[in-house]
Amino acid sequence: MPDEKFKDVKDLFQPWVMEAPQYSIAGCDVAWEHPELGRMFLNENPIRPSQAVIDAAMEALTKANWYPDRMLRLRRKLADLHGVGPENIAVANGSSETIDAMMRIFMKPGDEFMCSVPTFEMFPSRAGLCGCTTVQIPLRESDLQYDVDAMLAAVNEKTKLILIINPNNPTGIFIDDADLTKFCELGIPLCVDEAYLDYHPQVEAKTALLEKYPHVFLSHTFSKAYGLAGVRFGYVVAHPDLAEAFDRMFLPWNVSLMAMAAAEAILDNPSEIEEKVRYNNKWMDIFVKELEAKGLKPFPPHGNYMLVDGSVTGKTSQEIVDAAKDMAHVLIKTIKPIHGNNSYFRVTPGAPDDNERFVGFIRTYFGS
Ligand SMILES: Cc1ncc(COP(=O)(O)O)c(C=O)c1O
Repeated sequence: MPDEKFKDVKDLFQPWVMEAPQYSIAGCDVAWEHPELGRMFLNENPIRPSQAVIDAAMEALTKANWYPDRMLRLRRKLADLHGVGPENIAVANGSSETIDAMMRIFMKPGDEFMCSVPTFEMFPSRAGLCGCTTVQIPLRESDLQYDVDAMLAAVNEKTKLILIINPNNPTGIFIDDADLTKFCELGIPLCVDEAYLDYHPQVEAKTALLEKYPHVFLSHTFSKAYGLAGVRFGYVVAHPDLAEAFDRMFLPWNVSLMAMAAAEAILDNPSEIEEKVRYNNKWMDIFVKELEAKGLKPFPPHGNYMLVDGSVTGKTSQEIVDAAKDMAHVLIKTIKPIHGNNSYFRVTPGAPDDNERFVGFIRTYFGS
């Protein structure tokens, strides 16, 4: 028993540590414990890394007694993807690390971070852990696009950082360039999260914005189209001063030798990424057709996830997700009510068998 003269340890924490919205990864425990259930809830890539990527990571493991360097060769390769210099790149232990670092670079307790609702829940969580408030502006009711007017109207002197996910999660919708420019023009730090852009290469990364707007930066990840979520690798494209701030905020040696080697190996083999994107988009087309045939409304899937409005069925999000688990043995994602509609769910293509079972589920559960 601790001595009574000591305070309860929780009273020693900064108040916001336990008050911040928690981003729980408990769902991953269920998925790992039950490999028989198709993983279609986390926006993962169902295709394993190629042998070349595995070999590169294994080879790096043989040198794991040494600390990594600053990865200049890898930074150059990433810079080439965007037509910028290595000084514009900072490398992260997954883009979740970028989310964490950006809060600490721009915000102090009491400041406001602005994003939409729904959004990727990691953002409000990491803002809260800096003692900051997240101002979440609902998506437009008519089309679930960013409500640009409402967001601009809510900007005030406490707004220190704004987020636009493009395409957005969970809707999969792109923001118009003209609307994005309105946020850039505010002069407030703006994160453009392009985690899913590789699934829709017809739309270019917004690198050109960096020339005019040094407070705008891009966040990328290898967890999605590159299929390396378990490796943890992401990067920031930013003005050199901002890239340096990220480098300072990230931990030294934040990216392991193995992650670095895997990232470089897949960059050297772009056809592996193209194949993964083709697989995803093929299944997305199938899901859209099957869902529409049942009168459901899937949103245009520009990433590796699809938001579906299941309200014609009269079922709740939870009921649909539970039924998919029971009947098809697949894990899909519940979505909190959007404008009072509690029937949205989100699904990501899994392995071929999982996808077949999901298609069977659509056909039987959603009636004739
Ligand atoms: C919009 C968005 N950004 C970032 C991430 C985090 O990705 P990472 O695995 O790179 O941390 C996700 C993960 O789902 C996401 O949806």
